[in-house]
Amino acid sequence: MNKISASILNADFSRLKDDIDSVLPFIDEIHCDVMDGHFVDNISFGAPVIERIRSAFPETVIDTHLMIRDPEKFRTDFIAAGSDILVFHLEATPHAYITLKRIKDAGIQAGISLTPATDISLLEPLASLLDRILIMTVEPGFGGQSFIPEMLKKIKKARTLFKDIDIQVDGGINEKTLPYALEAGANVFVVGSYLFSHENKSERAAQLCSLLD
Ligand code: DX5
Ligand code: ZN
Repeated sequence: MNKISASILNADFSRLKDDIDSVLPFIDEIHCDVMDGHFVDNISFGAPVIERIRSAFPETVIDTHLMIRDPEKFRTDFIAAGSDILVFHLEATPHAYITLKRIKDAGIQAGISLTPATDISLLEPLASLLDRILIMTVEPGFGGQSFIPEMLKKIKKARTLFKDIDIQVDGGINEKTLPYALEAGANVFVVGSYLFSHENKSERAAQLCSLLD
């Protein structure tokens, strides 16, 4: 199933609920980007913000993307905050297997994200524990960057290797790049600035939604 995951990183945090409400009819998930200033050169927000989003949107899937070092240390905070899906970076921990297993044991979906330089086949030993694979289509850390075209080959390879796992793409997704990623085999599309840095957010969300039919 094809899905839109709206990244709130570039939303207006002084009116976050309104921003989310404006795209809500057209999206499947709220994508929360957690950055620690170590794994990536940026700091965003932590579990208390996600907890508030959970209370404001009790019915919507929350997709938490951890761009933090040592995700195994913090996973329980993000599970308790109400994440439905918890994704961390393979490059951020030597303990990916046990971290995935513990997330699954907590009863939520688990995923691994790869930065552009990381080979997709490294995930083969972990396939049975993966609900989703997040392929970064920009270098993680900031919204508003341009889609890296070389990642299309990686998406295709991912779809060949992992037939039944959600393949999510994140970074530079807009009305031009989404169709290429879709054709390559991605089925979950993170969209940040294309939605939230625009005046008519709901029009843009509807437009992207129509590209998935
Ligand atoms: C970047 C984040 C993305 C980001 C996407 O490191 O993981 O989720 O918000 O933003 P856009 O869609 O603007 O590239
Ligand atoms: Zn993200």
